[in-house]
Amino acid sequence: MRIPFIVLILVVASRSSVADKPCQAREIQNQSVVCVCTEDYCDSITTTRPQQGSYHIYRSSQTGLRLEKRHGRIRSYNSSYEYDTEIILNPRKTYQTIEGFGGAVTDAVGINWLKLTKPLQETFVESYFGDCGIGYNMIRVPIGGCDFSTHAYAYNELPANDVKLSNFSLAAEDFNLKLPLIKRLRAVSTVPVLLLGTIWSPPVWMKTNNKITGVSRLKPEYFQTYADYHLKFLEKYSENGVPVWGITTTNEPFNGVLPLPTFNSLGFTPDGMGRWIAENLGPTIRNSKFKDTKILGIDDQRYMIPFWYTLVVDLWPEADTYLDGLAVHWYLNKEVPPSVYTLVNNTGKFIISTEACSGFELNNPDRVILGSWKRAEDYIGDIIESINSGLVGWIDWNLCLDPQGGPNWVENFVDSPIIVTSSTEFVKQPMFYAMAHVSKFVPRGSQRIDVRIKGDSIEAMAFVLPDDMVVVVIFNRQDETRKVRLQLFSKEIVVTVHARSINTVQIP
Ligand SMILES: *[C@@H]1O[C@H](CO)[C@@H](O)[C@H](O)[C@H]1NC(C)=O
Ligand SMILES: *[C@@H]1O[C@H](CO)[C@@H](O)[C@H](O)[C@H]1NC(C)=O
Ligand SMILES: *[C@@H]1O[C@H](CO)[C@@H](O)[C@H](O)[C@H]1NC(C)=O
Ligand SMILES: *[C@@H]1O[C@H](CO)[C@@H](O)[C@H](O)[C@H]1NC(C)=O
Repeated sequence: MRIPFIVLILVVASRSSVADKPCQAREIQNQSVVCVCTEDYCDSITTTRPQQGSYHIYRSSQTGLRLEKRHGRIRSYNSSYEYDTEIILNPRKTYQTIEGFGGAVTDAVGINWLKLTKPLQETFVESYFGDCGIGYNMIRVPIGGCDFSTHAYAYNELPANDVKLSNFSLAAEDFNLKLPLIKRLRAVSTVPVLLLGTIWSPPVWMKTNNKITGVSRLKPEYFQTYADYHLKFLEKYSENGVPVWGITTTNEPFNGVLPLPTFNSLGFTPDGMGRWIAENLGPTIRNSKFKDTKILGIDDQRYMIPFWYTLVVDLWPEADTYLDGLAVHWYLNKEVPPSVYTLVNNTGKFIISTEACSGFELNNPDRVILGSWKRAEDYIGDIIESINSGLVGWIDWNLCLDPQGGPNWVENFVDSPIIVTSSTEFVKQPMFYAMAHVSKFVPRGSQRIDVRIKGDSIEAMAFVLPDDMVVVVIFNRQDETRKVRLQLFSKEIVVTVHARSINTVQIP
């Protein structure tokens, strides 16, 4: 009789100890703060449903707030008051259903993760996918190598011209770096983690230029082999206990058309891509035991939709029937309006953002900037714009990198939401919290709802969750603090939105 009683007490005690642990802030000169994680301490976050009649607000700001939690009472709407900024929520008007948020597991991520002590490796895993983490539920993984590897490689490099892929096996990087991390991330997640695989370059013998990078095309005699190569990857990952949810039709295929890339690539014209999907990839996947694998087209910048994807579809209408959705990257988004997405409306396809990072600009000396609030703003601004344009998810690039922004075999260093500073420390950048404000609060299955914003100083998006809670994300990129009224039917909430801040409001 006694033993269960003690067990009960232990359960209760451990529950109450799972309180939110605030950011251990380190100020960075001329920047905002980073949150420092060591074996002894790492900030974490749990969320609970607000009690009926009250709301929760979480705030992060340039001044150093990180998911600071407050609560308040919901009041009756009073039209005799006016506010500079009002957000009118209409949960009766719903749009797309959210698939998820996440980041990529590259070789570079695995290398940095393994540098950490064992307890810190676990803290890292928890920070993104654990109960007290930020709710990630998607992972993108390179099929073979990419620039975030220590060297260029693909599977089945030898023997050359091996149409049957008789020597296909996973690489040491899969067994030592990517699979162990992906397995840990899946293990701590309480929801299914959707894995998206992408090829940067096949073995060079399949390519016209016989090189891993540069301007290239798939040799016509290997169109089917390249489709089979995808299937082999799905088989191998599945055999290793990691099922793959989807694949994209090659990373940034336009890179290998322009003489731009210095890293792993494969060029495709719209005609080549359409033919390959219609005659090879589509039938190969759909006639296999992996027939339910999502096939996502483009996986390149969104400007590809109006000029490239429309041509693929015009030339090869059958290719389009194999595509479940389209994947877009965020580079150059500032130059191309999100209205291009409307070209995909009414096709039944979803669109998801599959790669983004800061510090990528050519000639930018600041690859990693510790504590940059501006980069958090770039993230949240793009996420809000993307989701408000109908996208179903947003997947970041590397989950972590070193202080230089690598390793990367062509020195294409960039920034990341987590920087591994030593074996006993990693720091969470402001970008980590930009992701958290969405990924922690907007689970898979949430539906975007209509928001009308009066006043032009803030940006916002809102959702109704599977459990009926309403969640609003409010972003203020101005230097002034605002009082903002949220109206939900006959109720209202008035919140203080700090200068240069990201806010998430939960309304039961
Ligand atoms: C901070 O800003 C000041 C003024 O712009 C500049 O002189 C200084 O070099 C900066 N410090 C760092 C560490 O960037
Ligand atoms: C709204 O506010 C005004 C001014 O304070 C007050 O007179 C009125 O009673 C309020 N109305 C409601 C419905 O609370
Ligand atoms: C098969 O691939 C391995 C590398 O994974 C290579 O060492 C070996 O030489 C290849 N076999 C043949 C017959 O080319
Ligand atoms: C396309 O869908 C998006 C997202 O639902 C919507 O914002 C946009 O207005 C639609 N465009 C057209 C032309 O219907």
